[in-house]
Amino acid sequence: MHHFQYKGDELYCEDVPVRLIAEKIGTPCYIYSHATLIHHFMVFDSAFKDVEHLTCFSVKANSNVAILKLFGSMGGGMDIVSGGELYRARKAAIAPERIVYSGVGKTIEEIDFALREKILMFNIESTQELEQINRRAEAMNTRASISLRINPDIDPNTHPYISTGMKKNKFGISIDAALKAYEKAKSLKNIEILGLDCHIGSQLTDVSPFVDALKRLRSLIERLRQTGVHIRYLDLGGGLGIVYDQEAPPQPHEYARAILRELENIDCTLIFEPGRVIVGNAGILVTKVLYTKRTQSKNFVIADGAMNDLMRPSLYGSYHYIQPVVRGQKETEIVDVVGPICESGDFLARDRGLPMSAAGDYLAVMSAGAYGFSMASNYNSRPRAPEVLVRGGQYFVIRQRESWEDLVRPETIPDFLAG
Ligand code: LLP
Repeated sequence: MHHFQYKGDELYCEDVPVRLIAEKIGTPCYIYSHATLIHHFMVFDSAFKDVEHLTCFSVKANSNVAILKLFGSMGGGMDIVSGGELYRARKAAIAPERIVYSGVGKTIEEIDFALREKILMFNIESTQELEQINRRAEAMNTRASISLRINPDIDPNTHPYISTGMKKNKFGISIDAALKAYEKAKSLKNIEILGLDCHIGSQLTDVSPFVDALKRLRSLIERLRQTGVHIRYLDLGGGLGIVYDQEAPPQPHEYARAILRELENIDCTLIFEPGRVIVGNAGILVTKVLYTKRTQSKNFVIADGAMNDLMRPSLYGSYHYIQPVVRGQKETEIVDVVGPICESGDFLARDRGLPMSAAGDYLAVMSAGAYGFSMASNYNSRPRAPEVLVRGGQYFVIRQRESWEDLVRPETIPDFLAG
């Protein structure tokens, strides 16, 4: 369910015509629907209303501080993976005791920042990291609350780049090594064991990998109890998929039912780290057609949005539905929707049936709210697009378009080249 619908021939975001925003703010631009964001957060969070839990939005999916603030105002915590994400979460006034920190390569600077902020816990991905965090906590005369991230070796059946819970992935500590790692954690003076964590991958469209992982984790939690390690928090990560095309992912209540069935009498507070399922279908990328090029072998629609704005099609071969912002009675043609970037890998869609477009038309690239802007870059020295939040009949620019000046601001020409 989302609030990007046609009224007549015009695509609206809630009560605002998308064309109006594109004309006022320019393109490419990201547009998010407030009603969709809150609906998705509520649907997910309330699926677990009967159990003690914390929904920590995964900041990497959409890192805009306004969006973080919105979820914070709904009682959400945050799942972070860097000092920069912690900085953003704190800017959005997210309480530290609602922040969990994952990632295989936490630096000393990042660890110290998180210790100073007193976050709920570090999700630890290796014994070396465990020792490092213990040393930093000792140096700062404090204790670090931790979970160990367990890699359950389950195939999530998703794109290989976003599978994280298999033996061959860099993430987590294997089940076999887990008991020893918890023993180690127990022996460290400045470490407090709070929980157990797991995240097996992203864009899962079936509950069974979650359930299989959970069975393994549950038996590990029971074995840990026998050794005197009491797991108070069980963090199940994120990963629930959304509909981009023909997928049929489980609804949050189906996901919840399958998970809770495995967790009877577990006596843990559950933590979830959803990203995509909350924001994915709550955002679109709007782009304008600059030119069309019809050749003997291909038809190209050359748009002003590119792989630097939305990397997913180029990086993962991902499908994003594209539709005209103003529709008409036009014939369908098969086109590649491409951007201005100087690479043949720069495309938003390939061999796609689209109503015939002409220069000046606006196109909406759907389901771009997750891993859209947050993965954008300045490649080809393209300023990053603005982000707009629509609420009812109003819209708010929550991030301005970067300028050419912004592009060079952090750069300096050394003296020997100056003059
Ligand atoms: N927790 C951890 C530890 C994660 O690594 C991730 C995503 C999440 C939670 C949130 O997963 P979600 O609920 O959004 O599936 N750029 C890729 C997705 C990368 C996901 C990385 N980790 C894409 O555009 O598909």
